[in-house]
Amino acid sequence: MAQQVQGVIAPGKNEPVRVETIVIPDPGPGEAVVKIQTCGVCHTDLHYKQGGINDDFPFLLGHEAAGIVESVGEGVTDVEPGDFVVLNWRAVCGQCRACRRGRPWYCFNTHNAKQKMTLLDGTELSPALGIGAFAEKTLVAAGQCTKVDPEVSPAAAGLLGCGVMAGIGAAINTGEVGRGDSVAVIGCGGVGDAAVMGARLAGAARIIAVDIDDRKLETAKKMGATHTVNSRTTDPVEAIRALTGGNGADVVIEAVGRPETYKQAFYARDLAGTVVLVGVPTPEMQLELPLIDVFGRGGSLKSSWYGDCLPSRDFPMLIDLHQQGRIDLGAFVTETIGLGDVEQAFTRMHEGDVLRSVVVF
Ligand code: APR
Ligand code: ZN
Ligand code: ZN
Repeated sequence: MAQQVQGVIAPGKNEPVRVETIVIPDPGPGEAVVKIQTCGVCHTDLHYKQGGINDDFPFLLGHEAAGIVESVGEGVTDVEPGDFVVLNWRAVCGQCRACRRGRPWYCFNTHNAKQKMTLLDGTELSPALGIGAFAEKTLVAAGQCTKVDPEVSPAAAGLLGCGVMAGIGAAINTGEVGRGDSVAVIGCGGVGDAAVMGARLAGAARIIAVDIDDRKLETAKKMGATHTVNSRTTDPVEAIRALTGGNGADVVIEAVGRPETYKQAFYARDLAGTVVLVGVPTPEMQLELPLIDVFGRGGSLKSSWYGDCLPSRDFPMLIDLHQQGRIDLGAFVTETIGLGDVEQAFTRMHEGDVLRSVVVF
């Protein structure tokens, strides 16, 4: 029996989001229905609303979620009703060329639910990142449900579903930060702060946080930054070099997604160092760099999609570390809100007032 629940939809380009009744089909083969406990508000949800991702309105927003599996369809064996799960948008296929090469974190054919959730009049919804979790329940592919320790706070755990995983993974997976490394992080919002946390977890000796907002730099210190640079008033390349014996950092993580900050990352990096781009640029942005510098400075220039994470490997591990007190995922939860408060949360996010607002059901 299909069920009706309340969910937040983006009805059309730049129109305010609103709470609507959503029809959730019973799970088909390989699918699961999850009762959502918490869901964080991410920039990507705002980008959907603004029409910046695609035009497949209406969207069912929300994708940084934790909840309890309610029912599963035919053939589902990895999760069962009652399991506490964090939802992911990388349910790997096991068949594509990336998976076959043993690099499933790059999977090019990730799974989502095949059936559609709809409005009462039958209009099909496009779930954000194949999840759609600003809703009391949602329908996903079973592989999008990652079981983790059920003792954890759902609000903290759910954030691993997107932004926090992207940042931690940019440091520990893509950047391969190692013990004793120097790391600089440019842009200290939720993603950059998570990169700071990941760098500390990996044993970085020096972690330089760069932002144009002093409030963000204060938070970055709490996450593990050893030094801070306000790049509105100080040249960040000079400052990072000065803090690293004149050389530049071993790993520089760009968590803004702009050409000018990417250039800063490029030149603030030591010879043979690594730049990681985890901030998401917009399609019209262009990068111009002297090719001789790209060659002459050596090292690697990498992008980090979703922190190059493998949810089944990384979520349970990071939840365990959180439960042991070795990282504090709760530090990203600035406020908890209701389902009707998402529009205001977008405004607060835009004004830089919050790391994460989390909808609690
Ligand atoms: N130099 C340094 N920091 C900057 C600059 C700049 N020129 N411009 C903006 N920032 C800082 C902001 O002050 C803010 O602290 O970058 C941070 C961006 O943080 P958020 O807006 O909170 O975004 P976040 O959720 O961290 O995501 C960062 O990753 O997932 C993508 O779309 C997301 O591109 C965005 C990026
Ligand atoms: Zn694959
Ligand atoms: Zn997100």
